[in-house]
Amino acid sequence: MFVTLEGIEGSGKTTQIEAIAQFLRSNGNDVVTTREPGATSTGKKIRSILLDPDNISISPLCELMLYGADRAQHISEVILPALKAGKTVLCDRFADATAAYQGFGRGLDTQLINDIYKIVAGKLKPDLTILFDLDPLTGLERTFKALRHGERHQNESRFEQEHLDFHKRVRNGYLAIAHKEKERFFIVDASISKEEIFEKIILEVSKRKDQNKL
Ligand code: TMP
Repeated sequence: MFVTLEGIEGSGKTTQIEAIAQFLRSNGNDVVTTREPGATSTGKKIRSILLDPDNISISPLCELMLYGADRAQHISEVILPALKAGKTVLCDRFADATAAYQGFGRGLDTQLINDIYKIVAGKLKPDLTILFDLDPLTGLERTFKALRHGERHQNESRFEQEHLDFHKRVRNGYLAIAHKEKERFFIVDASISKEEIFEKIILEVSKRKDQNKL
């Protein structure tokens, strides 16, 4: 089972991933949690290039290729071996992030993004994608607070420096993608409490498991 978590900055996915993993483990699943970018040692180097705010000159195409390179390594080193071993993979961001950020955010061509996805991932697709939907203003407020409190490093703040309009396009992009693939997506309102979000996710995952969709 391959489950991905998506959403704009500050939407709270990272807070939930371990709790979801614990729930699945307590139900007998062998769970691997992972993330993009930066889950492999090669990926960590790519991540530091992508998120460093000093790298203002990275072109949208270069950015797209770097996310693709990170994903190619991640799939071959982490995701596919785990899925082949019958494990559940919980991934903090995956290819929908590229469609939302590089497609809707940067305005890169959808066909190009899809072509790269096919080269990198082949037929691999998440069985379930949980979209943490949030107003970008609230999300950015949360991330800036995390940056001020040292919970997130300044050297990983390149996307936080983007204008509000960029984040609005990303949010709307995610919603448009989710609208097109209603079966795969579960949208959760990320403005409610952590506990309520967790409960909603657990209910949805349990329902899908009962229906043999997961
Ligand atoms: P995060 O690990 O804190 O979520 O930061 C990753 C950043 O990278 C976040 O701003 C979203 C961005 N991103 C893309 O733009 N495209 C992608 O394909 C992925 C996976 C992430």
